[in-house]
Parts: sequence; C-alpha cells; structure tokens
Amino acid sequence: MEKPAKRVSDSFVETIHVVRPVHINSAGRLFGGTLMQWMDEVAGLTSKRHTHGMTTTASVDNLQFLRAAYQSDIIVITGKITYVGNTSMEIRVETFIESRDGSRCEINRAYFTMVAIDENDKPARVPRLILETPEEKEEWANAEKRREMRKMRTAQGF
Ligand SMILES: CC(C)(COP(=O)(O)OP(=O)(O)OC[C@H]1O[C@@H](n2cnc3c(N)ncnc32)[C@H](O)[C@@H]1OP(=O)(O)O)[C@@H](O)C(=O)NCCC(=O)NCCS
Repeated sequence: MEKPAKRVSDSFVETIHVVRPVHINSAGRLFGGTLMQWMDEVAGLTSKRHTHGMTTTASVDNLQFLRAAYQSDIIVITGKITYVGNTSMEIRVETFIESRDGSRCEINRAYFTMVAIDENDKPARVPRLILETPEEKEEWANAEKRREMRKMRTAQGF
C-alpha cells in the first residue's frame, strides 16, 4: 500500500554546528570534507523524514563552496525536499554562517539525490510530494530540469 503524500514542510531539517579546532584544515578554514559530511547527514535526515524508511545517497549536484568558514563560526545547515521521482528524492541543502544578531550568510549549496531502500536493499517507491507554495512549484520545475541533465550526463558517460 502506498504511503500517504507528504508536504515539503513535513520533512524540513535544520542542524547547527560550531566550528571547533578539530574541524580546521591546514589553511585555517573549515575542512570541506567535514562540511560535506554534515550536509550528507542533513540530506539523509530529510529523506528519512519524508519516507519513514531507509535511504541512501545516489549523487550530489551543484555543490558550491561560496565562502569560507573559520573557527568559532556557527554553521546552520538546512534540508528541504524539492522533488520526488518513483524511488528517488531531490533535497536542496543550504549552509549558512549565523551571526550573533541572527542574520545568515549563505556559504554553500548543493542538491542531493537520495534513493529509498527496501528491506532487500532495492529501491523502493517514495511518498508523493504535496506542493503548497509558488516557490515549491518553481523548485519542482527546476528539479525536473536538473533530473533531465543528470540523465543526459549518465547517457553520455560524463
Ligand atoms: C542509488 C542506488 C540505490 C540506485 O540503484 P539502481 O539499481 O541504479 O536503481 P535504479 O536504476 O532503479 O534507480 C533508482 C532511482 O535512483 C535514481 N538514480 C540512480 N542512480 C542515480 C544517480 N547516480 N544520480 C541520481 N539519481 C540516480 C534513478 O533515477 C531512479 O530514480 P526514480 O526511481 O525516482 O526514477 C545504487 O546505485 C546504490 O546503491 N548506490 C550506492 C549508494 C551508496 O551506497 N551511497 C552511500 C555513499 S557510499
């Protein structure tokens, strides 16, 4: 039986980290691999909230390091589902530095494709997505374009 459709807001995730000495690379900045791990965790949590099941990371697109982060910075990472296919979901993961006054400056953005996995480790159908706002409908339309580009890359082997 198909699981009930979910709203975008049902699976929204936000995590917070403080950049500590252990996270700093030799250039004195937040190590990119640490940030990517935190982002992957957010994408995983978002997809698990949408499916209430197991999921795995299939690919990451458009990962852009826009600005560096330094020791003691407060890092906020958000995950929002943008699109569902049959067994896959696209999650927009955004990373910000939050200042003491609460304002946020975006330092990274990426689109994760997560695939639902059943008890036999095979792709499983995911709940449908309810789009409530013009922004969510626009994100869905853009996600369809990214999905087509992914398919083209796979077909052409690059
Ligand atoms: C992701 C994975 C489950 C897909 O399995 P598969 O047998 O190729 O499954 P399918 O070809 O039926 O594709 C299933 C869905 O995944 C999507 N997909 C598969 N590979 C993809 C990729 N590289 N990028 C984006 N989407 C992908 C397909 O488009 C399909 O989506 P849809 O059902 O919404 O149309 C499989 O490749 C895998 O297990 N990869 C390793 C994932 C992993 O271990 N990640 C952790 C990091 S080590």
